[in-house]
Amino acid sequence: MTSASMRASLFLALVLCANFFYWECCKAGEEKTLANFPPRGWNSYDSFSWIIDEEAFLQNAEILAQKLLPHGYEYAVIDFLWYRKNVDGAYVDSYGYDSIDEWGRPIPDPNRWPSSRGGKGFTEVAKKVHEMGLKFGIHLMRGISTKAVDANAPILDVHKGGVYSEDGRNWTARDIGLTHRTCGWMQHGFMSVNTDLGAGKAFLRSLYHLYTEWGVDFVKLDCVFGDDYDSKEISSVSQLLEELDRPVVLSISPGTRVTPSMAETIDKYVNMYRITADDWDTWSDVASHFNISRDFASVKKIGAEGLRGRSWPDLDMLPLGWLTDPGVQQGPHRKCYLTLDEQKTQMTLWSIAKSPLMFGGDLRNLDGTTLSLISNPTLLEINFYSSNNLEFPHVYTTEKRLGKKNHIFFKFKETIYQQKHKKKILGLTSCTDERAKGWYASLQTSEPDQICWNLKMKQSGNLSHCLIKFSSDEHVIHNQEHKQYFHLATPQRDFICLDASSGRKGIASERRDIKLTSCKWHASQMWSLNDDGTLVNSYSNSCAAVNSYKVSTTIGGIRSWIATGRRGEIYLAFFNLNPIATRITAKVSEVRDFIGNSFFREGSCNWTEVWSGKNMQPVRTTISATVNSHGCSLFVLTC
Ligand SMILES: *[C@@H]1O[C@H](CO)[C@@H](O)[C@H](O)[C@H]1NC(C)=O
Ligand SMILES: *[C@@H]1O[C@H](CO)[C@@H](O)[C@H](O)[C@H]1NC(C)=O
Ligand SMILES: *[C@@H]1O[C@H](CO)[C@@H](O)[C@H](O)[C@H]1NC(C)=O
Ligand SMILES: *[C@@H]1O[C@H](CO)[C@@H](O)[C@H](O)[C@H]1NC(C)=O
Repeated sequence: MTSASMRASLFLALVLCANFFYWECCKAGEEKTLANFPPRGWNSYDSFSWIIDEEAFLQNAEILAQKLLPHGYEYAVIDFLWYRKNVDGAYVDSYGYDSIDEWGRPIPDPNRWPSSRGGKGFTEVAKKVHEMGLKFGIHLMRGISTKAVDANAPILDVHKGGVYSEDGRNWTARDIGLTHRTCGWMQHGFMSVNTDLGAGKAFLRSLYHLYTEWGVDFVKLDCVFGDDYDSKEISSVSQLLEELDRPVVLSISPGTRVTPSMAETIDKYVNMYRITADDWDTWSDVASHFNISRDFASVKKIGAEGLRGRSWPDLDMLPLGWLTDPGVQQGPHRKCYLTLDEQKTQMTLWSIAKSPLMFGGDLRNLDGTTLSLISNPTLLEINFYSSNNLEFPHVYTTEKRLGKKNHIFFKFKETIYQQKHKKKILGLTSCTDERAKGWYASLQTSEPDQICWNLKMKQSGNLSHCLIKFSSDEHVIHNQEHKQYFHLATPQRDFICLDASSGRKGIASERRDIKLTSCKWHASQMWSLNDDGTLVNSYSNSCAAVNSYKVSTTIGGIRSWIATGRRGEIYLAFFNLNPIATRITAKVSEVRDFIGNSFFREGSCNWTEVWSGKNMQPVRTTISATVNSHGCSLFVLTC
């Protein structure tokens, strides 16, 4: 080897080492322990949108410390626009209501955050939060504010303590703001900075320097990921944070249309990154998390290397309990729209996919059911300590084994009430509407007469929503028509009937609702089935249709996840995404092959189901459960 080539290879080795050490040793003596587990905490967005103030925040933090810190929820995070005046005219993309300091850095709105007056920023708030035993987090937008650019604020050089100068000149906000790269959903608010310039980096450094001086432990950096992807800003901020003495968890968002390959380039720079759009309390939002979390689990992104520690695919906050609506300018005012089954499904998927758990409800109104759900010891154990978390693809629906009694399993009543805010399952429509043509008379001899709605489902064959049909001779006599009219009752024991009286007589307008009321002999409850599959009501002359037909078929099916516990137990979750209760089965032999655990054998394991408390020993050839619509079962298997 010539000395030149030796020098070259030495150099190469040094570069490799430098790269290696860059990620491996951060600061001398510092262990890489940041976000060793998926971070947990509380975030103000789901309950306050952007208008939270100091009093409400500290009240929430206090309850967080009392009730949830013992369960590992340690970060109290203020979400976006804490620098904006909460006055008429201000909104998410408004301009001119934000407070910045002389260096162009957002500072808290003094009216909402009185302790910030006199240049103190969040120092006092952070101090109180720390005294409660919690950690303190804030939300930040990408880059620099339009206000700072318009003001042409000078850039602070934190190393020298004055204006940043380079090449013999002082640099300002206009030099670094990329006016063609504003944030897509806050175009009047923020834009990227040019991180290729020393001045661009100096500005970001001045931001994080200030915020960590205040005592910030967690930053949610928004408008840099998903559709707003800005990998340079992410890596620049990450490197700045690594220079600081204070460890700061870096969380990035949003997560609209994120792919595993997009995450591949940035996961080592951050501690958590959103993999979905904002999650709110609708069933379709919950259901939309299954595929994407499966995809990230399968490429081993859960708990991969991250900034000064690990990184976690983030399924977004838990919008449970007492909430507000997205983007509004008002505080918490309503209960979560999800049913309890849907909430259990959300908590179970978030836990077994090892997502960060950030509770979003107003803690001052935390009810016992929500508290016990988010502090469920098995779920929290799974969320922190389980491993090999994956979607388990080998699950089956076994409709034939339902037995006669269970055949009528569609609970119209529940479904209607569950969906009252968005889409009612049953509605009245014109009899010529294609959506009304799906009814048929069930010909099962052993069952009471039924009228069923035929729902064609890709994954689980055809499933029916059935109603019990009954008629009286009296009624037939009084009706001289050739059509046979009948009542339709729900399959529950307390018969309630389908009633079209909420639609005005004789008018068939789109998407009116059908009521369920006690059965009575009134034309509004009389139905007849036409040959074309329409179910007509004699009073309103309208037809019944299943409104959510499309929704039901696109997000239906069953899912299962599996993981191994730290004591060797196996966690198996069944999820029913169908709009009807469904029996789900897994074969013990397939579970064993999937996890490669030879102890897991027929006859040698016991199981407990978490929600029902039921247990079984020993487990034979299959594990089965009838799972409520949108609900889940969670088995803990010990062998
Ligand atoms: C840069 O700013 C400093 C402090 O404000 C000032 O003293 C200096 O003259 C400025 N330099 C130039 C080149 O404008
Ligand atoms: C989810 O994944 C399944 C299986 O890969 C696929 O068939 C389905 O279309 C996906 N659903 C959505 C909404 O992308
Ligand atoms: C489902 O229904 C369609 C149309 O009614 C029929 O063609 C198909 O064979 C049915 N599938 C099953 C699995 O029963
Ligand atoms: C299963 O349960 C039985 C009865 O409670 C118990 O004797 C046995 O040790 C359990 N087996 C395992 C593997 O936990």
